[in-house]
Amino acid sequence: MSTTRVQDAVREKYGEIARSVGASGCCGPTACGCGDPITSNLYASSETEGLPAEAVAVSLGCGNPTALIELTPGETVLDLGSGGGIDVLLSAKRVGPTGKVYGLDMTDDMLALARENQRKAGAANVEFLKGTIEAIPLPDQSVDVIISNCVINLSVDKDAVLREAFRVLKPGGRFAVSDVVIRGEVAPEIRRSLELWVGCVAGALRDEEYVSKLRAAGFADPTVEAWRVYRVEDARAFLAGAGLDVDRIAADVDGRIASAFIRARKPEAKTCCGPTCCS
Ligand SMILES: C[S@@+](CC[C@H](N)C(=O)[O-])C[C@H]1O[C@@H](n2cnc3c(N)ncnc32)[C@H](O)[C@@H]1O
Repeated sequence: MSTTRVQDAVREKYGEIARSVGASGCCGPTACGCGDPITSNLYASSETEGLPAEAVAVSLGCGNPTALIELTPGETVLDLGSGGGIDVLLSAKRVGPTGKVYGLDMTDDMLALARENQRKAGAANVEFLKGTIEAIPLPDQSVDVIISNCVINLSVDKDAVLREAFRVLKPGGRFAVSDVVIRGEVAPEIRRSLELWVGCVAGALRDEEYVSKLRAAGFADPTVEAWRVYRVEDARAFLAGAGLDVDRIAADVDGRIASAFIRARKPEAKTCCGPTCCS
């Protein structure tokens, strides 16, 4: 599917979700939010206490990337696909007034919701940027930490996303992302079902593909750690609703999809000391 078609579908879907938050206080009729086993119970109430209710209601992630990583006061953080801004606001508390957190999203209604949540939270060290994660509108080596929560699976061009993430990170910068991954080989028909279930025009990578793409982009020490593995029962109602014979495909779906923490780092810059010692 072309990048433009996928991005248009993603904008439409998340725009609708953002608008429904204002209307109902929830994220609307979608397979990827509100009580879905992927998006529920990701944050401790001690973390979300004090955040605007709308930021918490529109949490559409599949993990808690801010819990993945040590954030230090003064650091600059970038959240790829920041949605309603929950992880941006959590990070902003941790980097403090001397730090800065950028949220990047391409959906106007999500950006409007996120900026309203920023205003309610009184977060002065936050800026929401409009743009795509495939062409990040920030300079080279400007960010200490990249986080993202269930967004990279939506991109048609994951190599571009990882190249851009590498470009904007400072040497020694960290990549700490939550995403959905597929475990092992999956038949195309099953993959389609899983993508339907993830419900977000998804294109989740296989775990080992994630690692090899991170290496190809230049990252060091990439790891993918599945922390919530989904059983067929988690998907039964959705797959049946999509007209699939769940019992027939159960064995191939069970345990094949997981929420994972993906970590990597940008190597430190080499200090060159002459033609013979810079290998
Ligand atoms: C599943 S939601 C996750 C939102 C947020 N990270 C969270 O945890 O609640 C995906 C978000 O990523 C944005 N998005 C998806 N693909 C994108 C792309 N290629 N560039 C920029 N934003 C994108 C959507 O607009 C949407 O707000």
